[in-house]
Amino acid sequence: MPLDIVVGAQWGDEGKGRVVDLLASHADFVCRYNGGDNAGHTVTVEDRTFKLHLIPSGIIHPNTVGVIGNGVVVNPTVLLEEIENLRSSGIEVNPERLRLSHAAHLITPAHLALDKAQESARGQDKIGTTLRGIGPAYTSKVARQGIRLTTLLDSQAISEAIQNHVRFVNQQLKAYAAEQLDPKIVAREFGEYAQKLAPYIGDISILLAEALSRGRKVLAEGAQGTLLDLDHGTYPYVTSSYPTAAGALIGLGVGVGCVERVIGVTKAFQTRVGSGPFPTELQGEIATRLRGTGENPWDEFGTTTGRPRRVGWLDLPLLRYAVRINGLTELALTKLDILTSIDPLRICSSYQRDAKTYLEPPYGLGDLSGFEPVYEELPGWQADVRNAQTWEDLPSEARAYILHIEELSGIPVRLISVGPERNQVVEIS
Ligand code: GDP
Ligand code: IMO
Ligand code: MG
Repeated sequence: MPLDIVVGAQWGDEGKGRVVDLLASHADFVCRYNGGDNAGHTVTVEDRTFKLHLIPSGIIHPNTVGVIGNGVVVNPTVLLEEIENLRSSGIEVNPERLRLSHAAHLITPAHLALDKAQESARGQDKIGTTLRGIGPAYTSKVARQGIRLTTLLDSQAISEAIQNHVRFVNQQLKAYAAEQLDPKIVAREFGEYAQKLAPYIGDISILLAEALSRGRKVLAEGAQGTLLDLDHGTYPYVTSSYPTAAGALIGLGVGVGCVERVIGVTKAFQTRVGSGPFPTELQGEIATRLRGTGENPWDEFGTTTGRPRRVGWLDLPLLRYAVRINGLTELALTKLDILTSIDPLRICSSYQRDAKTYLEPPYGLGDLSGFEPVYEELPGWQADVRNAQTWEDLPSEARAYILHIEELSGIPVRLISVGPERNQVVEIS
């Protein structure tokens, strides 16, 4: 009963969409289990680039059914827009090909307004959220005041639920001196969404249990990354969901026994968007080389918000942490091509604090301050790796860099991405 889970091993944007696209050619179901449209997953197929926020990247393959699990928060405006965009790119999206969990929660315009008001109230201490209403929507859920997709199936119930919700959030918006919303207008809007989305809503836990028992292949597509996990990330600079592997089980309603591979996606260096600690962060010339200037589609500017990403050297204490927290079975290493002609390269192999060496940060990631990265230097390479198809095609220095990552992380690198295109990949069996 194979369920493979793809999780971000860093702070998001590791190239999960690109890796899911590769694995989805052998999958029957591809499922988002956490987050919402704060995610931005890019898939490049020849001259077409898809940027997916809510619908699983696997939908691009005609053989798959896309699933949005109960762990996801859904902004129906964004979902309907994304369905239309995919259709206009020639991707068929219909209630047979896309299933939404009845237990997923709604993001409303009131959640968006609250996200904005809370971020501006935080001032200097802002999280740097994507302003997509993610935190407030999960807050409603945990406070047992959220609205599930199933409510969309009853026109009276959704109208009442939305009006009550907007009235409630309005009180909070008032406290922030932010503009309030008209409950009736929002309710009318959601009445229209309800009609459009009703055919997509169902019990996806049963759907997946049946699929797994028939031996169908299910792929779980994580959003964000381990270091942004609500419990295991760099709290409070985290998202409000569980991007880690265990999140896939809760967020889809499947049992533990079916998991086969847990694939951690990591870039060959480190990036982060938004506030929070980043021990190996770089400034200056190498930072610009890693980030790019924005002229290439793969340069390090956020898919969802367009913000420049912070960049730095690959951090092995954090990668080992991701291996442990997720139970990763293997790594997919992306953006190796970006390191070409940076010489020497550095890898942070441990941290030091008060003359003590740490292979992993103690006490999780709650306090990374005061830990000094200890670097190892490795020779770089000059040859273009973007056409590499096999291990032997890679320069010896690149192979040494990858072998060193395997050694320091303790798990094998099974997939090496050398460019954004489908065929720019070295698979190692
Ligand atoms: P995700 O959120 O984890 O799916 O990652 P994003 O899509 O936000 O960011 C990854 C970016 O890197 C996208 O623009 C991808 O097209 C691009 N990308 C993925 N793998 C590679 C690679 O190996 N090389 C290069 N140059 N770009 C890549
Ligand atoms: P994908 O799936 C990178 C970051 C935000 C912010 C923090 C909280 O494309 O990897 P939120 O809006 O979730 O409340 O913001 O999390 N963040 C991401 N960073 N990639 C993402 O998704 C992210 N989704 C949220 O920048 O620091
Ligand atoms: Mg992204």
